[in-house]
Amino acid sequence: MKFRVRPVRRLAGETEVPGDKSVSHRAALLGALAEGVSEVQGFLEAEDCLRTISAVQAMGAEVTRKGPGHFRIAGAGLRGLSEPADVVDCGNSGTAARLLCGVLAGQPFWTMLTADASMRRRPMGRIADPLRKMGATIVGRAEGTRLPLAIRGSAQPKAIEYATPVASAQIKSAVLLAGLGADGPVTVIEPAPSRDHSERMLRRFGARLTTSERTVTVTPGPLRATSVFVPGDISSAAFLLVAGAIVGDSRVTLHKVGVNPTRTGILDVLDGMGARISRSAAADEGEPTASLTVTGGALRATEIGGARLIPRLIDEVPILAVAAAVAPGVTVVRDAAELRVKESDRIAAIARELGKMGAHIEERPDGMAITGGGRLRGAAVQSGGDHRMAMALAVAALVAEGETVIEDVECVNTSFPQFTELVNALAGTTAITVEE
Ligand code: S3P
Repeated sequence: MKFRVRPVRRLAGETEVPGDKSVSHRAALLGALAEGVSEVQGFLEAEDCLRTISAVQAMGAEVTRKGPGHFRIAGAGLRGLSEPADVVDCGNSGTAARLLCGVLAGQPFWTMLTADASMRRRPMGRIADPLRKMGATIVGRAEGTRLPLAIRGSAQPKAIEYATPVASAQIKSAVLLAGLGADGPVTVIEPAPSRDHSERMLRRFGARLTTSERTVTVTPGPLRATSVFVPGDISSAAFLLVAGAIVGDSRVTLHKVGVNPTRTGILDVLDGMGARISRSAAADEGEPTASLTVTGGALRATEIGGARLIPRLIDEVPILAVAAAVAPGVTVVRDAAELRVKESDRIAAIARELGKMGAHIEERPDGMAITGGGRLRGAAVQSGGDHRMAMALAVAALVAEGETVIEDVECVNTSFPQFTELVNALAGTTAITVEE
């Protein structure tokens, strides 16, 4: 499948973005581990999160779809899940694969996990290491560091204090999930804070947690079912925010966007680039939300780096690179080597594909330097099977001269199936055509 994208002069309107991917995965997993029936609303019905739903169903949790984004999950309790009869396929989803490993480290049965070609290239040793210390047996490709992996957990993992070398919410969450059934308190210490959705949701499910800035400790104990309201995904909103900021005469309002401070690095950076974005607070049901309104205007270059900022916007670097490509001056991204192990090597992909559209991007080991301000031009580009690359390139194409064709765009369905529909509605025309 490909996108054919024509430039537009204006984006206008109000919309909601689909549910947060990180929060949706966690709702499915905690719902399955809890005692009782949980209700989840606003769940992201995209491929990645539906993989997690299928996985918990394969382990015996009962999941009923009540309506769009509305799921009822009858949990099995910490010790009530059962051995899946077949291999569990995590598709393109790193969060599904890694958080499931955490759950499985506390289950005394064998599970085989696999995933798509991109995910099978991504590192799993980072979660296998601490989970092995907790007593799980994890074997698989590349000395047990790549999917497919086979995992046998234990009914009572060993308590550990784990200092993770990477600020990764997936590592932190996997260890905490395994810790729910451990034989004592389990502590994770991070080099810098990562997103805290697991901590917030664990508390909502009744877990005992103590947190400080870089440390979290879970005291083992059961989870009780609850209701979860999933906010809109700021990582999906990011594409429409940057589109609204760079397409001249735009005014776009996005409602119910999750604005958890561990995720709002994009708002800070766009603010520093001179983008006009106003925020009005809305509900806070465990995760804060807001309506965000962006108006188009000139941007300027900025610096994006630092151990504290990068984890707050790691998934937004592809779309921020598009903003930087049209902002006069040199934008430097540093401390972001993690981008090389995402759905694709995003540093190489951004430099290569935006480069085809006329952007001047120098690739560096831990980031890039983007000399912005020139006019982008339509080109034939590749997503490389990476959803965030596909959408970032589509937004770049909205301000390019001429038509852009983006190949390999099915991947958008992993996180934001409504992307083309929403962009076209805001454009008031068919800016993006989907072709076979
Ligand atoms: C996620 C954490 C981040 C992020 C990913 C989702 C999560 O990865 O890039 O898209 O839901 O915990 P890391 O925690 O590995 O940095």
